[in-house]
Amino acid sequence: MNLDRVEIHLYRNCNLKCKMCDFKEYTDEIPSIEKMDKVMSQLKELNVKIVHFTGGEVLLYPNVEDLFRCVVEKGMKVHITTNALLLNNDMKRKAVAKYVSKLQISIDHYKCEMHNMLRGVDKTLENVLAGIKKLKEESPDVLLTMNTVVSKYNIDFIEEMLNLCKEYKFSVFNPIPIKGCEELTPSSEQIEKLLSNEEVLKNKAAEMNIEITAPSFHIFNVKQDKQAYNGILYKEGCKLLHNQMFINMTTGEVLPCPMTMYRNKANVLLGNIFENNISEIWNSARTQEVRDFFANTENKAGKACYDFCDPAFCYNQSMLKK
Ligand SMILES: C[S@@+](CC[C@H](N)C(=O)[O-])C[C@H]1O[C@@H](n2cnc3c(N)ncnc32)[C@H](O)[C@@H]1O
Ligand code: SF4
Repeated sequence: MNLDRVEIHLYRNCNLKCKMCDFKEYTDEIPSIEKMDKVMSQLKELNVKIVHFTGGEVLLYPNVEDLFRCVVEKGMKVHITTNALLLNNDMKRKAVAKYVSKLQISIDHYKCEMHNMLRGVDKTLENVLAGIKKLKEESPDVLLTMNTVVSKYNIDFIEEMLNLCKEYKFSVFNPIPIKGCEELTPSSEQIEKLLSNEEVLKNKAAEMNIEITAPSFHIFNVKQDKQAYNGILYKEGCKLLHNQMFINMTTGEVLPCPMTMYRNKANVLLGNIFENNISEIWNSARTQEVRDFFANTENKAGKACYDFCDPAFCYNQSMLKK
């Protein structure tokens, strides 16, 4: 089985204080460039095509240009998920422009004051948008996805978010249902209103040539609409582990996907890169066991995902081969 894509969680350290996120004020050890280079060599041997970095905030990595270079020089592509605050820093942005082919950028509101309130730091969206503008001038072919954590503050403004995508040349809009943050969760009335407007929004996105990752806005109704959720996403079980996996650089743990990082991970832990070669882990009986578990809807893998998964994430990754 080919391992096409690996997502790497570098550390939890971050420069923002988002209301809905647990990764605040951590000072995890930053994995050295030597350590990262060893991991990349093992991934190259496995013929991996895409290395996707996330965190915490990837662009805080001190020698980020070296990090990206060591991936690209081994023939693999770099993708990142970022809050993009540091895109307005010339050195960081130049490293991105030179080496990164796809960015998932988190933007939670089209109004600066609302985005900054949700992300906990003043002037964030102003800097993010300025950085994106310069990046697109320096690297016109770079692909941009807008990650929006859908909350009670933005669910009524999806059309405005699509307009922002268009203005800043994003090709994909990735609305993410909020997890574990009751005070920001949209009300049932707000979700109903969105569902009644779904076709209009989808047509609008299509006219603007923007892909929406959510297969249906029913994903925002998962607590109330479990059947729709399972029907949409888990009809065939989860196949992520057929061509991708996730590595936590702080602990060395290898897991099927980032969603399994904190929840029920003992059930799906595949191995540890500090103990075994990545190829041994990918080709192990244990990984096959977890792969079979997730892919088989009979044994309620869908139900396990229901509790901790991000449907837009799954959909997005399942489109990888397109
Ligand atoms: C943990 S962040 C790490 C990358 C980077 N710091 C960023 O914000 O893009 C990865 C993604 O998770 C999203 N996220 C954070 N808290 C969330 C929550 N409670 N529910 C759903 N998604 C969340 C972020 O908006 C971001 O798109
Ligand atoms: S920027 Fe990303 S990692 Fe940092 S607090 Fe916000 S969501 Fe969490």
